[in-house]
Amino acid sequence: MDIADEFNLLVLEDCAQSHGASIQSRKAGSWGDAGAFSFYPGKNLGALGDAGGITTNDEELMSVVTALRNYGSHTKYENRYKGVNSRLDEMQAAMLRVKLNYLDGETSRRKQIAQYYNQHIDNSLVLKQPYVDSAENHVFHLYVIQVENRADFVAYLESRGVHTMVHYPIAPHKQQAYPELGHLSLPVTEKIHRQVVSLPMGPTMTDEQVASVVEVVNSYVLRA
Ligand SMILES: Cc1ncc(COP(=O)(O)O)c(C=O)c1O
Repeated sequence: MDIADEFNLLVLEDCAQSHGASIQSRKAGSWGDAGAFSFYPGKNLGALGDAGGITTNDEELMSVVTALRNYGSHTKYENRYKGVNSRLDEMQAAMLRVKLNYLDGETSRRKQIAQYYNQHIDNSLVLKQPYVDSAENHVFHLYVIQVENRADFVAYLESRGVHTMVHYPIAPHKQQAYPELGHLSLPVTEKIHRQVVSLPMGPTMTDEQVASVVEVVNSYVLRA
C-alpha cells in the first residue's frame, strides 16, 4: 500500500482464498481500493452455487460495480455502462448469511489441521511447507507443499487413498489464452508450478483422516 500510495496506483485484492485472513489485525478485503471475494462452493465461505462479492470503501467505485453487475444499470432498463448479468442470487445470499456464522470456527479448524501438518510432516522429499507467522491469521484455504517428483508423489498418495490436487498446474504466462506472454521465461514461477501439490484440507476432516495423511506422506520414498 505504501508503494501504491507513492505511485498513485489502485490496489485490487484477490480475496478468493482469504475470507477472514488478516495482517496486523486488519482483514483481507480492507487493505486495497477494492477486494474481490469468491463464494464458489469450495471456498472457505462457499455458497451452494457460484457467487462472489466486492468490498470497497470507495462510494463511486461501489456505485459503478453495483451497476456493472446489473447490465450496467442503476435504473431499470436504463443502461449507463456496458454491464453484465452477475448479480448475487438472493437464495445464495441467504445461505451465505447463515454460513458466515460458522466461518471463524471453520477457520480455526483449518489452522489446527495446518499446524498438525506442519509439526508432523517429516519427509526430506517434501521440499517446502507453508510458512506460518503465528501473529498473523492465515486461513488455509489450501495447504500447499512442494515436492520434486510430483507425479510419482501424487500417484503414491492416491494408491494409499489420499487424494491431492494441484493449484495450479500451468502458470498464467504459459496458458494458451495468453500467447502474447508465452515467450517469457519465469524460472521461479515455472518451478513452483512443477512442484506444488495441495494436501487434503477442510474443516470437516477428522483427526484420524489428518493423521492418516501425515502417515502416508511420511512413508513416501522415491520409486524407480
Ligand atoms: C485466488 C483465486 N482468484 C480468483 C478465483 C476465481 O473465483 P471465481 O471462480 O468465484 O470467479 C479463484 C477461484 O478459483 C481463486 O482461487
